[in-house]
Amino acid sequence: MRRSTRPLVAWTAVVAALAATVSGCGFLGLGGDAPGDLQVYSARHYDLEQAFVDFEKDTGLKVDFIYGDDSELLERLKAEGDETPADLFVTVDAGNLWNAAHQGELAPVDSEVLEASVPAEYQDPENRWFGLALRARTVAYNPDAVDPAEFDTQDTYAGLGDPKWKGRLCMRDSTEAYTQSLVASLIDLHGRERAQEIVQGWMDNDVDIMSNDILLLEALDAGTCDVALVNHYYYARELADNPDLDVKLFWASQDGAGTHVNLSGAGIVKSSDAPEKAQRLLEWLASDGQEEFVGDNHEFPVNPSVQPDDLVASFGDFKKMPINAEAYGQLNTEAVDLLAEVGYE
Ligand SMILES: [Fe+2]
Repeated sequence: MRRSTRPLVAWTAVVAALAATVSGCGFLGLGGDAPGDLQVYSARHYDLEQAFVDFEKDTGLKVDFIYGDDSELLERLKAEGDETPADLFVTVDAGNLWNAAHQGELAPVDSEVLEASVPAEYQDPENRWFGLALRARTVAYNPDAVDPAEFDTQDTYAGLGDPKWKGRLCMRDSTEAYTQSLVASLIDLHGRERAQEIVQGWMDNDVDIMSNDILLLEALDAGTCDVALVNHYYYARELADNPDLDVKLFWASQDGAGTHVNLSGAGIVKSSDAPEKAQRLLEWLASDGQEEFVGDNHEFPVNPSVQPDDLVASFGDFKKMPINAEAYGQLNTEAVDLLAEVGYE
């Protein structure tokens, strides 16, 4: 049987509620008092991650969180301007990191630790943001309904427009950054016209649109759809909860451009009044805290000296599509327009 709520979530919710109550305000301070030494605006809301707890233990610095989605938090930063309490901005999408830097919200960081920990391909050339964790958006399928030999190994995303998948697809909604950056990567790779043909192909196959990746995986497990596009860590989470999950993962486009990957990362807020402390936290997340930071959510580490957790390692190595944060950021509006134009909601 599948459980929709894991015990850890319930426990951390209680801790968070207590912290908020004790502090008498909306801040989720791990230490209980507010405000803490560092204010993080985070689009990651995967429990109160152990990496932050250990950072507090190690440094004595208290970290508070405000959660929201990437674009909401960026709008909030811009609206607050010099008055923002934020020190570190954590996103789950490379396009939003690029946008935050491009819109002048992030300060450059000169750090040997970050340069040694984060490969050049996963950081801003001007050092205004650094990727911390990698997530792949790939195909998941029900093995009772699908023979993986049916997938197009050259361009698996485009191949889902083949009529043989009619009535068998489910995907994430258009408001999600994951969908938008995937489509932006298709525009970057193939040009607008071809990218639109690909998405139109999914629409012609009557794709069933759902509001989160867990629903997609549950639909696959239940057999109500055969193929979905999901972030690999949701699959890992579900599999960790239920080893009998009737879903398999397929690395997309291995004979072509590679599987679409995205970055969760962070930058120091330009108006931070504690940039040195924020830098310590950012360095920690990329180095000493990296294993816990990525492992808590079954992601791939950016730091090449850190290994992914055993479950994720068991998914095997795969060819990754190069991340083009600038393209995902710049093409975001076009991706949103494309989705609207074909009626993908
Ligand atoms: Fe997510």
